[in-house]
Amino acid sequence: MKQLDQEEFRQQMKEKTACIEERLKSVLPQEQSLQRTVFRAMEYSVMAGGKRLRPMLMRESYELFGGGEEEVIGLFMAAMEMIHTYSLVHDDLPAMDNDDYRRGKETTHKVFGEDMGILAGDALLNYAYETALRGAGKAAEPQNALKALRILSGKSGVYGMVGGQVVDVELTGKPLSEEQLEFIYRLKTGALLEASLMAGAALAGADDGNIACMEEIGRNIGMAFQIRDDILDVEGTREELGKPIGSDAKNEKRTYVSVYGIEKAKQAVEEYSVRALECLGNLSVESAYLNTLIKELVSRKK
Ligand code: IPE
Ligand code: IPE
Ligand code: MG
Ligand code: MG
Ligand code: MG
Repeated sequence: MKQLDQEEFRQQMKEKTACIEERLKSVLPQEQSLQRTVFRAMEYSVMAGGKRLRPMLMRESYELFGGGEEEVIGLFMAAMEMIHTYSLVHDDLPAMDNDDYRRGKETTHKVFGEDMGILAGDALLNYAYETALRGAGKAAEPQNALKALRILSGKSGVYGMVGGQVVDVELTGKPLSEEQLEFIYRLKTGALLEASLMAGAALAGADDGNIACMEEIGRNIGMAFQIRDDILDVEGTREELGKPIGSDAKNEKRTYVSVYGIEKAKQAVEEYSVRALECLGNLSVESAYLNTLIKELVSRKK
């Protein structure tokens, strides 16, 4: 499997991230009309930073399958990051994880109030679809865009991220079976990562078999990513992470780390990541950047 060396990888990541930031800034509403507070809260939460992993995966998958409509993929990538950001804004609310710090800044509800935190999340979710639909309107193959929209909406909702958050909240403080833990992680975190890879492939016109492969890769990355997130909640630093550590303990969340211990958790991250790379290796197309990105996620510090 082709891999990039560290320096080349860092450089490319920097460029890709900057490109996503620029795209995001250009699609967010900027008017000074009466509801401008919500525009400010949207911009605050989205432009606060973040790794931009989901739009990055979407583009890599799109290019992997030969996509070349820059505007279309750009709008879908922005939509993806808006949905992810809305999930974080709501996840941090007092009624949920009650966290004050995100992406190196005070959380949206801390700055704008709880009411605006809720509304900014709602606004981002809706505006994500407005943006993706704008992209779909520009697509040369509307059927591909329709498929991508179906993936995006399905994986974000009750059968995806929202469904996972529901079970996460409901089972807080209760003992978790292996199945329940996997269910929560696959949905609350895996679903949006799956959606990113799948929608990118769908937009590029990949067939259903390849889209299913991307789903499986996303599922494994999702498990690895959330378990690593649990590890960092214990072993990370607030400075590097840009969010508080100890949030899970504070909220009495049972996590992979609290159930199985840190060593087993690290092993699981490695295993899920290897599985993701194996699936990736089975495709007839290859991207050295994507290979490296997935490999690097195992040891991420933020
Ligand atoms: C945080 O996602 C929520 C989880 C699914 C663990 P990220 O770690 O991708 O957050 P940002 O986008 O970089 O802030
Ligand atoms: C994140 O789970 C899942 C979301 C869909 C937001 P966490 O609650 O562990 O995420 P962080 O640690 O707050 O980023
Ligand atoms: Mg949470
Ligand atoms: Mg949280
Ligand atoms: Mg966490």
